[in-house]
Amino acid sequence: MSLVDDLKAPSTKGELTRRMALGGISAAALGLATLGTTVVTVRYMSPNVLFEPATRFKVGRPEDIPLGTVLVLPEQQTYVVHGPRGIYAMSSVCTHLGCMTRFTEADKQIRCPCHGSQFNVDGEVVDGPAPKPLNRRLIELADGQLVVDLRQSVPQDYVVEV
Ligand code: FES
Repeated sequence: MSLVDDLKAPSTKGELTRRMALGGISAAALGLATLGTTVVTVRYMSPNVLFEPATRFKVGRPEDIPLGTVLVLPEQQTYVVHGPRGIYAMSSVCTHLGCMTRFTEADKQIRCPCHGSQFNVDGEVVDGPAPKPLNRRLIELADGQLVVDLRQSVPQDYVVEV
């Protein structure tokens, strides 16, 4: 299909004139600009909601957590441990520079992959640069369920006696 200069020669039916081609290009550009503006406006108007895990959550009944159990809750960055004195919860965030620690079932140790700190299941520092034990979090009984509240720190010897 050839373009016809419609200023010099009148167009015949079926020929694409320069004016028609420019009109089509302009309409397409306007359509794209409108679409882009609409997308940006809709994106701007929609709320920026950040979904985070709950800071207060149930971990089960005390009888479901036998003595010696270490529950690893990576989403809540928490360990729930049933030790000889009772059940306690502690943060799994390393007290050195904030890396996520990992529990090893084989030797019941908690290790930080970043700089090699090592903690026992009480959260006490066994080795490495961590300056203090893993932080204990509030855990309490509510309607027979153990509930952890990450917003509340408790002393290192805090346990729920069961
Ligand atoms: S952040 Fe855990 S040892 Fe450095």
